[in-house]
Amino acid sequence: MNLSQKSLSLCVLMLVTTLLVAGPPAIPGGLPIPQLVHTGSHYRLMVDGRPFLILGGQAHNSSASNPKDLKPVWDSLVALHANTAEVPIYWELIEPRPGQFDFHLVDDIIEGARQHHLRLILLWFGTWKWVEDTGMAYTPAWIKENPARYWHARDALNQPLFNISPFCRSAEEADAQAFAAVMQHIKSVDSSQRTVIMMQVENESGLEGTDRDHSPAANRAYQSPVPGHLMRYLEDHRNHLMPALAAAWADRSYRTTGSWPQVFGDLAPEAFSAWYVGRYIDAVAAAGQKVYPLPMYCNAWPISPGEVRPGDWPSGTPTPHVLDIWKAAAPHIAVLAPDIYSANFLEIAAEYRRATNPLLIVETSFSPSHAPFAFSTLAEFNGIGFSPFGIDHAAENGKLNPRAKALADSFEVLEPLLPLIEKYQYTGKLFSVVQGADRAETIPLSHELAAVAYYPRGLGFGPPRPNVFPPAAAGGIIIELAPDDYVVAGYGFRLEFRELHGPPRSPQFLSIEEGTFHGTQWAPERRLNGDELHVSLLEGPRILRVRLLKPAPRSSSP
Ligand code: DGJ
Repeated sequence: MNLSQKSLSLCVLMLVTTLLVAGPPAIPGGLPIPQLVHTGSHYRLMVDGRPFLILGGQAHNSSASNPKDLKPVWDSLVALHANTAEVPIYWELIEPRPGQFDFHLVDDIIEGARQHHLRLILLWFGTWKWVEDTGMAYTPAWIKENPARYWHARDALNQPLFNISPFCRSAEEADAQAFAAVMQHIKSVDSSQRTVIMMQVENESGLEGTDRDHSPAANRAYQSPVPGHLMRYLEDHRNHLMPALAAAWADRSYRTTGSWPQVFGDLAPEAFSAWYVGRYIDAVAAAGQKVYPLPMYCNAWPISPGEVRPGDWPSGTPTPHVLDIWKAAAPHIAVLAPDIYSANFLEIAAEYRRATNPLLIVETSFSPSHAPFAFSTLAEFNGIGFSPFGIDHAAENGKLNPRAKALADSFEVLEPLLPLIEKYQYTGKLFSVVQGADRAETIPLSHELAAVAYYPRGLGFGPPRPNVFPPAAAGGIIIELAPDDYVVAGYGFRLEFRELHGPPRSPQFLSIEEGTFHGTQWAPERRLNGDELHVSLLEGPRILRVRLLKPAPRSSSP
């Protein structure tokens, strides 16, 4: 090998090494594109090449149609200690005439986020976004006015709904082209700064008021064989399917061929809707990702109290019944994210956290009762983000609205803890405190130790009512740095540690400090001793570091 061959090999080697260690591919301009990295059942959202956890808030539906209305959104998010804004962008305003695009609102949103040091998730309100009884409220006028070309789904009585049929290829292509144009624009204005970190594709998709589309094209597909690709996915994942789908399929003796009713029985209409809505949206997402591959997700309208059959909720929205069908139908959608407004937050969150799906809360109630679920999302569920809906007026004239205090307190303590949480996710060393109906709650920490949270501002008595909770007054997180070294952060509760073996007692404290974290480095500010030697966050929000005296080794003889 001569010298120039040697140096060429060296250059190739250096390039390969650089690519291997550099992580995600860089687009000219510097920072790597945001990515959702999936290793086994672990998920990490990577922003600027580093793990990123979303403390967010979503603007009201119409706030992004006028930049002036975004001012309170930015101010509120800053006052809330949020790091990410979720803001809608509207097909009808972006493409007022076919093929003519106007991105000035998108540019204003990106500029506003940058000025306030926030990252952005843009919500594509395209074919699907429910408003009253229409699912296609945000389609441009030229789509609404041309039902012959952009034809509608039909109900069981063959009546057209005000919703594009998932079988309408002209609408799918138009939506995909518009979304690709949006992604091309974002790429051109944001590749060097990466303000936009994720895209929501459509909003709470599905068909309301019908169990499925009953248009002639849909009826033919319903009686045709279930697509082989879906059957293969279900066979490959047969031991891990969600309970409703597994039961419906088992009832049909795990048939691998046949029409939708033959394979899925009673679940067939919803399964059918999920597949075809999912395929449509995947085509839109794929067109956008081809241009600029940001991580993309879809949000789901979860089944709410009082809704008993598909059509009460939009049939085909990614409910737990049909989550697996969505996974097969939409490989370009990385996350199926539940919008949880109801009291049984933890139950729904548990349904959506799967080996194939991380927990991402992109909508939840902007109320004190739901704010502490930020802790459970990031701790027990190893979630990637938490964003309540409708935060526009959390702060006004620089003053926090009292309704926003619990969320601001939650984000205030979480903000400096994010690097630590990123480090300890998936280790089993993160625990959350969320006040329920009872005055105390036991949090098992290990085989040796439990924590008991006490809520002096009691909110209820009597036996635990798992799905009913009053407005929460307390929330927090516990991080186990070592078996005798804990971070306890949050507000509204007092914590006691209890040993689980030996004499019934609480361990002695070695020290309690109040402080904060810089990165993963503890920065103590105040030593608590004497009258203050308690793990008390009643006056929170605050962050405590609690070191326990190791229990003396137990001996077998007196
Ligand atoms: C859920 C929708 O996804 C949001 O866009 C908004 O309409 C909220 N409901 C209102 O509560």
